[in-house]
Amino acid sequence: MADAPYRADVRRFSTRVLSNTQLTSNIYDLRIEYAEGAFLPGQFVNLYLNRADRLLPRPISVADGGEGWIRLIYAVVGKGTEIFSRLNPGDALDVSTLIGNGFKPSPHGTVYAVGGGVGVPPVFAAAKKEAARGKRVVAVVGFRAEPILLDDFAGAIGAENVYCAIEDASVIPALEARYPEIRFALGNVVTILSQIIPAEADEKAFMAACGPTPMLKALQEYVKAFDPENDGRSRFELQLSLEERMGCGFGCCAGCVTQIRDPQTGTVRRVGVCSLGPVFAGETVVFYG
Ligand SMILES: Cc1cc2nc3c(=O)[nH]c(=O)nc-3n(C[C@H](O)[C@H](O)[C@H](O)COP(=O)(O)OP(=O)(O)OC[C@H]3O[C@@H](n4cnc5c(N)ncnc54)[C@H](O)[C@@H]3O)c2cc1C
Ligand code: FES
Repeated sequence: MADAPYRADVRRFSTRVLSNTQLTSNIYDLRIEYAEGAFLPGQFVNLYLNRADRLLPRPISVADGGEGWIRLIYAVVGKGTEIFSRLNPGDALDVSTLIGNGFKPSPHGTVYAVGGGVGVPPVFAAAKKEAARGKRVVAVVGFRAEPILLDDFAGAIGAENVYCAIEDASVIPALEARYPEIRFALGNVVTILSQIIPAEADEKAFMAACGPTPMLKALQEYVKAFDPENDGRSRFELQLSLEERMGCGFGCCAGCVTQIRDPQTGTVRRVGVCSLGPVFAGETVVFYG
């Protein structure tokens, strides 16, 4: 049995598209009217398609927001997101209230905001919020070839604090010319973290991360190496946002179950990401494979 409590508080309502701009070959920046109050970085909304052949909603993280609006950055990967890509300003769109536990506020002075691909938008939200709380924020983001949100990160935390890993070496010279203050490196986010964080550093820091599962798993391993007392506690407090496939999106179907290990007892339990996540303490997430 999975622990996936039904979220009776999740409501669906109709709102309006403010803009829907293409950012890269397959990523779009959707702004919608949203008067449901302030979001926590890491929270998401369900977007509905209003079609009999596609009843299940599509969960998308909130990347940014303000008085009466939110911003959602999404990749077109299938039919649902392809339909969203055709939305125009003024179109009606059904959306849910805010869902999920976001990243908790950092108790430490330094925050590493680590994201990969379309996992970067919720990490941007965390970076912006932590910078507004006066924290020192370092963003380490990774993409195959087409980065997103670099100007937004630079505006929120300063371009000198933004590092970008790219897998396709051929695009790096053009990116360096376009963003002269941002540091690019060939590889992935762990490549960059290993370069910028000295192994002997002992300052405690917070790490908010979202991205593909292999990246999250690599981060879990990476922070384990910073365990000066050898007692299983890293000096990095890692929080991982999981983007499991979802069904209902509010705790009804157990379609989004992941496994969480209690660090004290070692007991593993199955929990619903939509109702108890999507953000979990990094050391508790069980990855297989
Ligand atoms: C909490 C949460 C937050 C998310 N936030 C974002 C976001 O900010 N931006 C964004 O672009 N996407 C995000 N996603 C993923 C997004 O929900 C899916 O990409 C989307 O539902 C796919 O819908 P579709 O109809 O286009 O594709 P489908 O036809 O349903 O699937 C097409 C392809 O997408 C893959 N896919 C479907 N769902 C997911 C998923 N949850 N994660 C990874 N791959 C998936 C499938 O395996 C398949 O290969 C998030 C998912 C979750 C659970
Ligand atoms: S229970 Fe999480 S998606 Fe249905």
